[in-house]
Amino acid sequence: KTELFKTDSPLLGVVHLTKAGELIAKGETVVFPTETVYGLGANALDENAVKKIFEAKGRPADNPLIVHIADRADLEKLVTEVPEKAGKLMDAFWPGPLTLIMHKSSGVPEIVTAGLDTVAVRFPSNLIALGLIKSAGVPIAAPSANISGRPSPTKSEHVIEDMMGRVSAIIVSEDTEVGLESTVVDTTTEPPTVLRPGGVTVADLESVIGRVQVSPNAIRNVIPEKAKSPGMKYTHYSPKGDLVIVKGTDAEKVEKINRHIKKHEEMKIGILATDETMGNYHSGIIISLGSREDPEEMSHNLFARLRTFDDLGIEKIYAEDIEVGNDTLALANRLYKAGGYRFI
Ligand code: TXA
Ligand code: MG
Repeated sequence: KTELFKTDSPLLGVVHLTKAGELIAKGETVVFPTETVYGLGANALDENAVKKIFEAKGRPADNPLIVHIADRADLEKLVTEVPEKAGKLMDAFWPGPLTLIMHKSSGVPEIVTAGLDTVAVRFPSNLIALGLIKSAGVPIAAPSANISGRPSPTKSEHVIEDMMGRVSAIIVSEDTEVGLESTVVDTTTEPPTVLRPGGVTVADLESVIGRVQVSPNAIRNVIPEKAKSPGMKYTHYSPKGDLVIVKGTDAEKVEKINRHIKKHEEMKIGILATDETMGNYHSGIIISLGSREDPEEMSHNLFARLRTFDDLGIEKIYAEDIEVGNDTLALANRLYKAGGYRFI
């Protein structure tokens, strides 16, 4: 009983957005595209509606949600104050793939923030997302629209696979552009803290507000007693196949992967390489993430490639390590999480 709303004809798009907005306003769940990944939305101010998000995803209740707005004026209902640096980041990067953590106002239900006194807010740039929020007339709480633990959805096929029968409607649209989730920055600390790297890079942030700190969780498997961003302690983005990350020079990677393939001859093996290196391998299913020269392309492709391995029934995935730098921090973060920080 999930309705599919196709948005490819302009007029139909408007009709569908109106209907989808009504569903949100009535307390139902709607999957919608954003520029990062597809989101699973409900009225952020309605506790019962937000409960449905957690149920549909199978998400643990202690992992808070991001609230999506379509106008900076919507902040008034959500936060007690906008720190000066948060304001500067909004000027520079909103609408876009940046989520800002601020002190929450009492109007935001506890279920949204998992009991924290802060709330995560994002102003997306995707026109369908904005149209949906405007048509609903309320801010929309939305996590990525995958079943908890699976790679985030970047194509409408992904959300149909994960969410059909679990939500009231799915807005079917194009592939998402960025392909990785938004950068999450806690603006209640001084300096502000990057809790999750994303499309807006650390250098981008620092060009506007000066020094920021990056949570060690962004790149290492650090699980503090009380994780600052609760979502960081869960297994994430995992394909069904067992994924390990392969370190070393290109020649060492080939040697290691060949050696491991010999040990697992009975298994269906996948190799996640790049345009530059895929020719180095001669067995297994070899898939390129894109060109090393183009980290944005690689980021755009990551989650879809992980799901492709699943579709092919791959049991073991060897993923070439990523050279970590400003432009590849988010990509490496997601790949390492997908592999549970297992390296060979
Ligand atoms: O790009 C995105 O951000 C996508 C699209 C749909 O907007 N959404 C998304 O939501 O990735 P989700 O729920 O998959 O990830 C939200 C992250 C989690 O790591 C969560 O722990 C963190 O944001 N978060 C939410 N509220 C927080 C808070 N008050 N303090 C610290 N971390 C918070
Ligand atoms: Mg997610």
